[in-house]
Amino acid sequence: MRLSRYFLPLLKETPADATIASHKYMLRAGMIKQNSAGIYSWLPLGFKVLKKIEQIVREEQDKAGAIEMLMPTIQSADLWKETGRYNAYGPEMLRITDRHEREMLYGPTNEDMITDIFRSFVRSYKDLPKNLYHIQWKFRDERRPRFGVMRGREFLMKDAYSFDMSAEDARRSYNKMFLAYLNTYARMGLKAVAMKADTGPIGGDLSHEFIILAETGESEVFCHADLVNMPPPGELDFEADLQPLVNERLALYAATDEMHDAAAFAKIPEDKRLSARGIEVGHIFYFGEKYSEPMGAKVMDKDGKAVTVHMGSYGVGVSRLVGGIIEASHDENGIIWPKEVAPFGAGIINLKVGDEEADKVSEDVYAKLTAAGVDPLYDDKSDRGGVKFSRMDLIGLPYQITVGPRGLKEGIVEVKDRATGKRQNLAPDAAVNFISAQFGVGA
Ligand SMILES: Nc1ncnc2c1ncn2[C@@H]1O[C@H](COP(=O)(O)OP(=O)(O)O)[C@@H](O)[C@H]1O
Ligand SMILES: [Mg+2]
Repeated sequence: MRLSRYFLPLLKETPADATIASHKYMLRAGMIKQNSAGIYSWLPLGFKVLKKIEQIVREEQDKAGAIEMLMPTIQSADLWKETGRYNAYGPEMLRITDRHEREMLYGPTNEDMITDIFRSFVRSYKDLPKNLYHIQWKFRDERRPRFGVMRGREFLMKDAYSFDMSAEDARRSYNKMFLAYLNTYARMGLKAVAMKADTGPIGGDLSHEFIILAETGESEVFCHADLVNMPPPGELDFEADLQPLVNERLALYAATDEMHDAAAFAKIPEDKRLSARGIEVGHIFYFGEKYSEPMGAKVMDKDGKAVTVHMGSYGVGVSRLVGGIIEASHDENGIIWPKEVAPFGAGIINLKVGDEEADKVSEDVYAKLTAAGVDPLYDDKSDRGGVKFSRMDLIGLPYQITVGPRGLKEGIVEVKDRATGKRQNLAPDAAVNFISAQFGVGA
Protein backbone atom coordinates (compact mmCIF):
# COMPACT_ATOMS: atom_id res chain seq x y z
CA MET A 1 0.00 0.00 0.00
CA ARG A 2 1.20 3.49 -0.85
CA LEU A 3 0.72 5.85 2.05
CA SER A 4 -0.23 8.66 -0.35
CA ARG A 5 -3.27 6.62 -1.40
CA TYR A 6 -4.12 5.13 1.98
CA PHE A 7 -6.52 6.45 4.58
CA LEU A 8 -4.50 6.94 7.75
CA PRO A 9 -5.93 9.90 9.68
CA LEU A 10 -3.33 10.36 12.43
CA LEU A 11 -3.96 12.63 15.40
CA LYS A 12 -1.22 14.92 16.67
CA GLU A 13 -2.78 15.42 20.08
CA THR A 14 -3.89 12.68 22.39
CA PRO A 15 -7.62 13.07 23.07
CA ALA A 16 -8.17 13.96 26.72
CA ASP A 17 -10.52 11.08 27.50
CA ALA A 18 -7.92 8.47 26.49
CA THR A 19 -6.05 7.45 29.61
CA ILE A 20 -4.38 4.16 28.74
CA ALA A 21 -1.75 3.47 26.08
CA SER A 22 -3.87 1.32 23.80
CA HIS A 23 -6.71 3.81 23.68
CA LYS A 24 -4.34 6.72 23.02
CA TYR A 25 -2.39 4.96 20.35
CA MET A 26 -5.41 3.51 18.59
CA LEU A 27 -6.84 7.02 18.25
CA ARG A 28 -3.54 8.67 17.37
CA ALA A 29 -2.62 5.99 14.82
CA GLY A 30 -5.94 6.39 13.04
CA MET A 31 -7.18 2.90 13.88
CA ILE A 32 -10.59 3.79 15.29
CA LYS A 33 -13.00 6.66 15.56
CA GLN A 34 -15.57 6.87 18.30
CA ASN A 35 -19.11 7.34 17.06
CA SER A 36 -20.83 7.37 20.43
CA ALA A 37 -19.86 6.12 23.88
CA GLY A 38 -18.33 2.66 23.50
CA ILE A 39 -19.17 2.44 19.79
CA TYR A 40 -16.41 2.75 17.23
CA SER A 41 -15.76 2.76 13.53
CA TRP A 42 -12.78 0.66 12.61
CA LEU A 43 -10.66 2.73 10.25
CA PRO A 44 -8.53 0.86 7.68
CA LEU A 45 -5.45 0.33 9.85
CA GLY A 46 -7.45 -0.85 12.85
CA PHE A 47 -9.68 -3.00 10.69
CA LYS A 48 -6.66 -4.83 9.26
CA VAL A 49 -5.46 -5.77 12.72
CA LEU A 50 -8.96 -6.79 13.81
CA LYS A 51 -9.21 -9.11 10.80
CA LYS A 52 -5.84 -10.69 11.53
CA ILE A 53 -6.77 -11.41 15.11
CA GLU A 54 -10.10 -12.78 13.97
CA GLN A 55 -8.32 -15.09 11.52
CA ILE A 56 -5.96 -16.50 14.17
CA VAL A 57 -8.92 -17.15 16.45
CA ARG A 58 -10.75 -18.85 13.57
CA GLU A 59 -7.82 -21.07 12.61
CA GLU A 60 -7.29 -22.27 16.17
CA GLN A 61 -11.00 -22.93 16.65
CA ASP A 62 -11.09 -24.93 13.42
CA LYS A 63 -8.07 -26.98 14.49
CA ALA A 64 -9.86 -27.85 17.72
CA GLY A 65 -12.83 -29.15 15.75
CA ALA A 66 -15.22 -26.24 16.26
CA ILE A 67 -17.42 -25.40 13.24
CA GLU A 68 -17.97 -21.84 12.10
CA MET A 69 -21.39 -20.38 11.33
CA LEU A 70 -23.05 -16.99 11.67
CA MET A 71 -26.00 -15.97 13.78
CA PRO A 72 -27.71 -12.57 13.52
CA THR A 73 -27.00 -9.60 15.78
CA ILE A 74 -30.71 -8.89 16.26
CA GLN A 75 -32.61 -11.56 18.14
CA SER A 76 -36.23 -12.13 19.03
CA ALA A 77 -37.03 -11.82 22.74
CA ASP A 78 -39.05 -15.07 22.58
CA LEU A 79 -36.09 -17.41 23.05
CA TRP A 80 -34.82 -15.34 25.95
CA LYS A 81 -38.20 -15.62 27.60
CA GLU A 82 -37.99 -19.41 27.36
CA THR A 83 -34.79 -19.47 29.37
CA GLY A 84 -35.92 -16.73 31.73
CA ARG A 85 -33.05 -14.53 30.72
CA TYR A 86 -35.13 -11.79 29.15
CA ASN A 87 -36.00 -10.48 32.58
CA ALA A 88 -32.80 -11.58 34.29
CA TYR A 89 -30.38 -9.78 31.97
CA GLY A 90 -31.11 -6.24 33.12
CA PRO A 91 -30.22 -2.86 31.62
CA GLU A 92 -27.12 -4.17 29.80
CA MET A 93 -29.42 -5.59 27.17
CA LEU A 94 -30.40 -3.27 24.37
CA ARG A 95 -34.08 -3.91 23.84
CA ILE A 96 -35.65 -2.96 20.54
CA THR A 97 -39.24 -2.93 19.34
CA ASP A 98 -39.89 -3.50 15.65
CA ARG A 99 -42.71 -1.90 13.59
CA HIS A 100 -45.09 -4.70 14.57
CA GLU A 101 -44.42 -4.00 18.25
CA ARG A 102 -42.48 -7.24 18.52
CA GLU A 103 -39.84 -7.35 21.22
CA MET A 104 -36.37 -7.75 19.80
CA LEU A 105 -32.90 -7.25 21.20
CA TYR A 106 -29.33 -6.71 20.03
CA GLY A 107 -27.62 -9.90 21.13
CA PRO A 108 -25.22 -9.66 24.08
CA THR A 109 -24.48 -13.41 23.72
CA ASN A 110 -26.04 -16.40 21.92
CA GLU A 111 -26.68 -19.37 24.25
CA ASP A 112 -30.44 -19.16 23.79
CA MET A 113 -30.30 -18.89 20.00
CA ILE A 114 -27.75 -21.67 19.50
CA THR A 115 -29.74 -23.97 21.78
CA ASP A 116 -32.79 -23.31 19.64
CA ILE A 117 -30.83 -24.12 16.49
CA PHE A 118 -29.51 -27.28 18.05
CA ARG A 119 -32.90 -28.55 19.24
CA SER A 120 -34.40 -27.84 15.83
CA PHE A 121 -32.07 -30.22 14.01
CA VAL A 122 -30.18 -32.64 16.22
CA ARG A 123 -31.94 -35.79 17.37
CA SER A 124 -29.35 -38.50 17.96
CA TYR A 125 -26.30 -39.15 20.12
CA LYS A 126 -24.59 -40.10 16.85
CA ASP A 127 -24.38 -36.41 15.96
CA LEU A 128 -22.56 -35.50 19.15
CA PRO A 129 -20.23 -34.01 20.23
CA LYS A 130 -20.70 -30.71 18.35
CA ASN A 131 -19.09 -27.35 18.86
CA LEU A 132 -20.51 -24.46 16.83
CA TYR A 133 -19.08 -20.97 16.83
CA HIS A 134 -19.42 -17.60 15.21
CA ILE A 135 -17.51 -14.34 15.22
CA GLN A 136 -20.13 -11.65 15.49
CA TRP A 137 -20.74 -8.20 16.95
CA LYS A 138 -22.33 -8.07 20.36
CA PHE A 139 -23.99 -5.21 22.18
CA ARG A 140 -23.95 -4.71 25.93
CA ASP A 141 -25.09 -1.41 27.28
CA GLU A 142 -22.20 -1.20 29.73
CA ARG A 143 -22.66 1.18 32.62
CA ARG A 144 -19.18 2.55 32.07
CA PRO A 145 -17.80 2.00 28.59
CA ARG A 146 -14.15 3.03 28.76
CA PHE A 147 -10.60 2.42 27.63
CA GLY A 148 -11.59 2.48 23.97
CA VAL A 149 -12.22 -0.96 22.51
CA MET A 150 -11.31 -2.65 25.80
CA ARG A 151 -14.73 -2.07 27.29
CA GLY A 152 -16.98 -1.09 24.46
CA ARG A 153 -20.71 -1.30 24.15
CA GLU A 154 -20.54 -2.78 20.67
CA PHE A 155 -17.70 -5.29 20.42
CA LEU A 156 -16.62 -8.28 18.35
CA MET A 157 -16.64 -11.65 20.06
CA LYS A 158 -15.92 -15.18 19.03
CA ASP A 159 -18.41 -17.34 20.86
CA ALA A 160 -18.47 -21.11 20.62
CA TYR A 161 -21.04 -23.50 22.09
CA SER A 162 -20.48 -27.18 22.76
CA PHE A 163 -23.07 -29.95 23.01
CA ASP A 164 -22.38 -33.30 24.64
CA MET A 165 -24.21 -36.35 26.00
CA SER A 166 -22.85 -36.16 29.53
CA ALA A 167 -20.87 -34.03 31.96
CA GLU A 168 -17.86 -36.24 31.31
CA ASP A 169 -18.04 -35.72 27.54
CA ALA A 170 -18.59 -32.00 28.06
CA ARG A 171 -15.36 -31.87 30.03
CA ARG A 172 -13.56 -33.14 26.93
CA SER A 173 -15.07 -30.34 24.86
CA TYR A 174 -14.08 -27.87 27.56
CA ASN A 175 -10.50 -29.13 27.57
CA LYS A 176 -10.20 -28.70 23.80
CA MET A 177 -11.17 -25.06 24.08
CA PHE A 178 -8.99 -24.54 27.15
CA LEU A 179 -5.86 -25.61 25.28
CA ALA A 180 -6.88 -24.09 21.94
CA TYR A 181 -7.20 -20.73 23.71
CA LEU A 182 -3.66 -20.90 25.04
CA ASN A 183 -2.37 -21.56 21.53
CA THR A 184 -4.52 -18.74 20.15
CA TYR A 185 -3.10 -16.07 22.45
CA ALA A 186 0.47 -17.30 22.05
CA ARG A 187 0.20 -16.84 18.29
CA MET A 188 -0.60 -13.18 18.92
CA GLY A 189 2.53 -12.78 21.00
CA LEU A 190 0.57 -12.77 24.26
CA LYS A 191 1.23 -14.60 27.51
CA ALA A 192 -2.24 -15.55 28.68
CA VAL A 193 -2.95 -17.42 31.90
CA ALA A 194 -6.10 -19.47 32.52
CA MET A 195 -7.56 -18.50 35.87
CA LYS A 196 -10.39 -19.97 37.88
CA ALA A 197 -13.34 -17.66 37.35
CA ASP A 198 -16.80 -16.84 38.48
CA THR A 199 -19.49 -18.01 36.09
CA GLY A 200 -21.56 -14.80 36.35
CA PRO A 201 -24.95 -14.45 34.62
CA ILE A 202 -24.12 -17.22 32.15
CA GLY A 203 -24.23 -19.68 35.05
CA GLY A 204 -22.67 -23.06 35.64
CA ASP A 205 -19.91 -24.49 37.77
CA LEU A 206 -16.70 -24.79 35.77
CA SER A 207 -15.16 -21.68 34.33
CA HIS A 208 -11.84 -20.08 33.45
CA GLU A 209 -10.90 -16.61 32.37
CA PHE A 210 -7.90 -16.08 30.14
CA ILE A 211 -5.96 -13.16 31.44
CA ILE A 212 -3.01 -11.20 30.12
CA LEU A 213 -1.15 -9.26 32.77
CA ALA A 214 -1.18 -5.48 32.40
CA GLU A 215 -1.15 -2.70 34.95
CA THR A 216 -4.09 -1.08 33.20
CA GLY A 217 -6.18 -4.26 33.35
CA GLU A 218 -9.60 -4.13 35.00
CA SER A 219 -9.30 -7.49 36.76
CA GLU A 220 -7.44 -8.22 39.94
CA VAL A 221 -5.76 -11.62 39.69
CA PHE A 222 -3.61 -13.98 41.72
CA CYS A 223 -1.42 -16.74 40.36
CA HIS A 224 1.73 -18.80 40.51
CA ALA A 225 4.38 -16.86 38.59
CA ASP A 226 5.47 -19.93 36.59
CA LEU A 227 2.15 -19.96 34.74
CA VAL A 228 2.99 -16.68 33.01
CA ASN A 229 5.95 -18.10 31.12
CA MET A 230 4.65 -21.61 30.64
CA PRO A 231 4.89 -22.40 26.92
CA PRO A 232 1.61 -22.93 25.05
CA PRO A 233 0.60 -26.55 24.40
CA GLY A 234 1.46 -26.22 20.69
CA GLU A 235 0.38 -28.80 18.13
CA LEU A 236 -2.23 -31.09 19.65
CA ASP A 237 -4.12 -34.22 18.81
CA PHE A 238 -7.55 -32.99 19.80
CA GLU A 239 -8.94 -36.52 19.74
CA ALA A 240 -6.48 -37.65 22.41
CA ASP A 241 -7.09 -37.37 26.17
CA LEU A 242 -6.24 -33.76 26.92
CA GLN A 243 -6.91 -33.91 30.65
CA PRO A 244 -3.23 -34.44 31.61
CA LEU A 245 -2.21 -31.31 29.67
CA VAL A 246 -4.98 -29.30 31.29
CA ASN A 247 -4.09 -30.69 34.72
CA GLU A 248 -0.49 -29.56 34.34
CA ARG A 249 -1.81 -26.02 34.19
CA LEU A 250 -4.50 -26.41 36.82
CA ALA A 251 -1.88 -27.76 39.24
CA LEU A 252 -0.58 -24.23 39.77
CA TYR A 253 -2.74 -21.68 41.56
CA ALA A 254 -4.47 -19.05 39.41
CA ALA A 255 -7.70 -17.23 40.25
CA THR A 256 -9.54 -14.00 39.62
CA ASP A 257 -10.50 -11.94 42.66
CA GLU A 258 -14.06 -13.37 42.81
CA MET A 259 -12.63 -16.87 43.19
CA HIS A 260 -9.54 -15.99 45.17
CA ASP A 261 -8.64 -18.30 48.04
CA ALA A 262 -6.12 -16.51 50.25
CA ALA A 263 -5.16 -19.67 52.12
CA ALA A 264 -4.33 -21.58 48.95
CA PHE A 265 -2.44 -18.58 47.58
CA ALA A 266 -0.35 -18.37 50.75
CA LYS A 267 0.91 -21.90 50.13
CA ILE A 268 2.77 -20.75 47.00
CA PRO A 269 6.47 -20.02 47.73
CA GLU A 270 6.65 -16.30 48.40
CA ASP A 271 8.87 -15.41 45.46
CA LYS A 272 6.39 -17.12 43.11
CA ARG A 273 3.28 -15.39 44.45
CA LEU A 274 2.00 -13.07 41.78
CA SER A 275 -0.71 -10.59 42.62
CA ALA A 276 -1.35 -8.36 39.65
CA ARG A 277 -3.81 -6.71 37.35
CA GLY A 278 -4.92 -8.27 34.13
CA ILE A 279 -7.08 -8.00 31.03
CA GLU A 280 -9.70 -10.67 30.44
CA VAL A 281 -9.28 -11.70 26.81
CA GLY A 282 -11.37 -14.86 26.95
CA HIS A 283 -13.77 -16.73 29.17
CA ILE A 284 -14.95 -20.33 29.01
CA PHE A 285 -17.82 -21.98 30.86
CA TYR A 286 -19.31 -25.39 31.38
CA PHE A 287 -22.93 -24.91 32.42
CA GLY A 288 -24.46 -28.33 31.88
CA GLU A 289 -28.20 -28.28 31.33
CA LYS A 290 -28.83 -24.67 32.25
CA TYR A 291 -30.26 -23.78 28.83
CA SER A 292 -30.87 -27.20 27.30
CA GLU A 293 -33.25 -28.13 30.15
CA PRO A 294 -35.67 -25.16 29.89
CA MET A 295 -35.44 -25.20 26.09
CA GLY A 296 -35.91 -28.96 25.78
CA ALA A 297 -32.71 -29.63 23.84
CA LYS A 298 -32.67 -33.42 24.01
CA VAL A 299 -31.25 -36.21 21.89
CA MET A 300 -31.78 -39.97 21.88
CA ASP A 301 -29.04 -42.05 23.47
CA LYS A 302 -28.02 -45.56 22.36
CA ASP A 303 -31.01 -47.09 24.10
CA GLY A 304 -33.51 -44.70 22.58
CA LYS A 305 -33.84 -42.70 25.79
CA ALA A 306 -34.13 -38.90 25.54
CA VAL A 307 -31.19 -37.16 27.21
CA THR A 308 -30.86 -33.45 27.90
CA VAL A 309 -27.58 -32.27 26.38
CA HIS A 310 -24.72 -30.77 28.36
CA MET A 311 -23.45 -27.46 27.12
CA GLY A 312 -20.50 -25.12 27.45
CA SER A 313 -19.75 -21.72 25.98
CA TYR A 314 -16.45 -20.19 25.04
CA GLY A 315 -15.84 -16.49 24.35
CA VAL A 316 -12.86 -14.60 22.97
CA GLY A 317 -12.88 -10.81 23.02
CA VAL A 318 -11.68 -10.26 19.46
CA SER A 319 -11.95 -6.47 19.42
CA ARG A 320 -10.69 -6.19 23.01
CA LEU A 321 -7.59 -8.10 21.93
CA VAL A 322 -6.56 -5.27 19.62
CA GLY A 323 -6.24 -3.05 22.68
CA GLY A 324 -4.87 -5.85 24.82
CA ILE A 325 -2.01 -6.53 22.43
CA ILE A 326 -1.09 -2.85 22.42
CA GLU A 327 -1.13 -2.75 26.23
CA ALA A 328 1.29 -5.67 26.19
CA SER A 329 3.48 -4.29 23.41
CA HIS A 330 4.27 -0.58 23.06
CA ASP A 331 6.82 2.04 24.06
CA GLU A 332 6.83 5.83 24.43
CA ASN A 333 6.91 6.24 20.63
CA GLY A 334 3.95 4.08 19.81
CA ILE A 335 2.72 0.58 19.09
CA ILE A 336 5.00 -2.42 18.56
CA TRP A 337 2.98 -4.99 16.64
CA PRO A 338 3.84 -8.66 16.97
CA LYS A 339 4.45 -9.97 13.43
CA GLU A 340 1.37 -12.19 13.31
CA VAL A 341 -1.10 -9.36 13.81
CA ALA A 342 0.76 -6.36 12.33
CA PRO A 343 -1.38 -4.38 9.87
CA PHE A 344 1.55 -4.30 7.41
CA GLY A 345 4.72 -6.37 7.63
CA ALA A 346 7.14 -3.52 7.01
CA GLY A 347 7.24 0.18 6.31
CA ILE A 348 9.38 1.68 3.57
CA ILE A 349 10.46 5.24 4.27
CA ASN A 350 11.58 7.16 1.21
CA LEU A 351 13.52 10.08 2.68
CA LYS A 352 13.63 12.05 -0.52
CA VAL A 353 10.60 11.61 -2.69
CA GLY A 354 11.44 13.08 -6.12
CA ASP A 355 15.07 11.96 -6.00
CA GLU A 356 15.49 9.64 -8.94
CA GLU A 357 17.58 7.01 -7.20
CA ALA A 358 15.64 7.09 -3.91
CA ASP A 359 12.35 6.72 -5.81
CA LYS A 360 13.71 3.91 -7.96
CA VAL A 361 15.08 1.86 -5.06
CA SER A 362 12.00 2.48 -2.87
CA GLU A 363 9.71 1.35 -5.70
CA ASP A 364 11.86 -1.71 -6.27
CA VAL A 365 11.91 -2.69 -2.59
CA TYR A 366 8.16 -2.06 -2.43
CA ALA A 367 7.50 -4.28 -5.44
CA LYS A 368 9.73 -7.07 -4.16
CA LEU A 369 8.34 -7.08 -0.61
CA THR A 370 4.84 -7.04 -2.05
CA ALA A 371 5.64 -9.98 -4.33
CA ALA A 372 7.13 -11.86 -1.37
CA GLY A 373 3.89 -11.45 0.57
CA VAL A 374 5.24 -9.14 3.28
CA ASP A 375 2.51 -6.57 2.57
CA PRO A 376 4.58 -3.40 2.98
CA LEU A 377 3.38 0.14 3.55
CA TYR A 378 5.36 2.55 1.38
CA ASP A 379 5.69 6.07 2.77
CA ASP A 380 5.87 7.94 -0.53
CA LYS A 381 4.71 11.24 0.96
CA SER A 382 6.90 14.31 0.77
CA ASP A 383 7.09 15.02 4.51
CA ARG A 384 10.31 15.65 6.43
CA GLY A 385 12.31 12.67 7.65
CA GLY A 386 11.45 13.34 11.31
CA VAL A 387 7.71 13.26 10.56
CA LYS A 388 8.11 10.01 8.66
CA PHE A 389 10.13 8.33 11.39
CA SER A 390 7.76 9.22 14.19
CA ARG A 391 4.75 8.25 12.09
CA MET A 392 6.27 4.85 11.35
CA ASP A 393 7.17 4.31 15.01
CA LEU A 394 3.64 5.28 16.07
CA ILE A 395 1.91 2.78 13.79
CA GLY A 396 4.39 0.15 14.95
CA LEU A 397 5.10 -2.03 11.90
CA PRO A 398 7.65 -4.74 12.81
CA TYR A 399 10.33 -3.52 10.34
CA GLN A 400 11.23 -0.20 8.78
CA ILE A 401 13.42 0.24 5.73
CA THR A 402 14.78 3.71 5.25
CA VAL A 403 15.85 4.66 1.76
CA GLY A 404 17.80 7.92 1.34
CA PRO A 405 20.22 9.45 -1.14
CA ARG A 406 23.11 9.39 1.32
CA GLY A 407 22.93 5.66 1.99
CA LEU A 408 22.28 4.89 -1.63
CA LYS A 409 25.62 6.48 -2.59
CA GLU A 410 27.14 3.58 -0.68
CA GLY A 411 24.57 1.16 -2.03
CA ILE A 412 22.77 0.66 1.28
CA VAL A 413 19.42 1.14 2.98
CA GLU A 414 18.78 0.96 6.72
CA VAL A 415 16.62 -1.74 8.27
CA LYS A 416 15.24 -1.11 11.75
CA ASP A 417 13.59 -3.65 13.98
CA ARG A 418 10.75 -1.76 15.70
CA ALA A 419 10.74 -3.98 18.80
CA THR A 420 14.46 -3.94 19.59
CA GLY A 421 15.42 -0.69 17.86
CA LYS A 422 18.31 -2.59 16.29
CA ARG A 423 19.46 -1.08 12.98
CA GLN A 424 21.50 -2.60 10.21
CA ASN A 425 22.72 -1.34 6.86
CA LEU A 426 22.08 -3.66 3.98
CA ALA A 427 22.03 -3.58 0.19
CA PRO A 428 18.40 -3.13 -0.93
CA ASP A 429 18.00 -6.73 -2.11
CA ALA A 430 19.58 -8.05 1.09
CA ALA A 431 17.09 -5.93 3.07
CA VAL A 432 14.22 -7.47 1.11
CA ASN A 433 15.58 -10.96 1.75
CA PHE A 434 16.17 -10.29 5.43
CA ILE A 435 12.65 -9.04 6.03
CA SER A 436 11.03 -11.75 3.94
CA ALA A 437 12.94 -14.33 5.94
CA GLN A 438 11.60 -12.89 9.22
CA PHE A 439 8.10 -13.63 7.97
CA GLY A 440 9.09 -17.02 6.63
CA VAL A 441 8.15 -16.04 3.09
CA GLY A 442 10.24 -16.20 -0.07
CA ALA A 443 11.64 -13.14 -1.79
N1 LIG B 1 -17.78 -4.63 26.87
C1 LIG B 1 -16.86 -5.37 26.28
N2 LIG B 1 -15.99 -4.81 25.39
C2 LIG B 1 -15.05 -5.55 24.78
N3 LIG B 1 -14.89 -6.87 24.99
C3 LIG B 1 -15.71 -7.49 25.87
C4 LIG B 1 -16.73 -6.77 26.56
N4 LIG B 1 -17.39 -7.64 27.35
C5 LIG B 1 -16.81 -8.83 27.18
N5 LIG B 1 -15.80 -8.76 26.29
C6 LIG B 1 -14.93 -9.86 25.84
O1 LIG B 1 -15.69 -10.99 25.53
C7 LIG B 1 -15.26 -12.11 26.29
C8 LIG B 1 -16.43 -12.98 26.68
O2 LIG B 1 -17.39 -12.21 27.39
P1 LIG B 1 -18.04 -12.64 28.78
O3 LIG B 1 -17.09 -13.38 29.63
O4 LIG B 1 -19.34 -13.23 28.47
O5 LIG B 1 -18.24 -11.17 29.36
P2 LIG B 1 -18.08 -10.60 30.84
O6 LIG B 1 -16.72 -10.99 31.29
O7 LIG B 1 -18.23 -9.12 30.66
O8 LIG B 1 -19.16 -11.23 31.58
C9 LIG B 1 -14.57 -11.52 27.50
O9 LIG B 1 -13.59 -12.40 27.99
C10 LIG B 1 -13.96 -10.25 26.92
O10 LIG B 1 -12.70 -10.55 26.34
MG1 LIG C 1 -16.19 -12.90 31.42
